[in-house]
Amino acid sequence: METTLVLIKPGGVQRNLIGEITRRIEARNLKVTGLKLINAPRTTVEEHYAEHKERPFFTSVVDYLTSGPIVAIAVQGDNAVKAIRAMMGATNPVDAAPGTVRGDLALTIEDNLTHSSSDPEAAARELALWFPEGTI
Ligand code: CDP
Ligand code: MG
Repeated sequence: METTLVLIKPGGVQRNLIGEITRRIEARNLKVTGLKLINAPRTTVEEHYAEHKERPFFTSVVDYLTSGPIVAIAVQGDNAVKAIRAMMGATNPVDAAPGTVRGDLALTIEDNLTHSSSDPEAAARELALWFPEGTI
């Protein structure tokens, strides 16, 4: 059993996609074990994306993640990390397969609707960052 982190980015919240994205997660028989709507502190987002600190898009992605409310979700299940990554689709929505969240609901890499942990180590680090109080 694994637990992974999903963030619904500000564009997803503004477009009223909290329910649609959470519905897909639950329909897959993955369990929501943590869920909150927050205005993310800039320091938390910078730490979250620390691996991208030297990338040209770092400032813009941090600006974006702090531009409005986001939803943080802890998701548990067998192979949850890989299952959720596959469900969200490729980083650039134009490369994301139909049937994925990004392939069905997003169009640009700057507004690709969700974050999901890339591997179990990243998931553990990110869950500690976004759910310091722990999950259910
Ligand atoms: O989110 P994912 O793990 O699929 O992609 P990433 O490579 O870890 O990049 C993190 C986020 O930075 C992406 O989801 C995009 O929102 C943003 N990004 C961007 O705006 N432009 C790029 N060329 C690459 C990533
Ligand atoms: Mg990533």
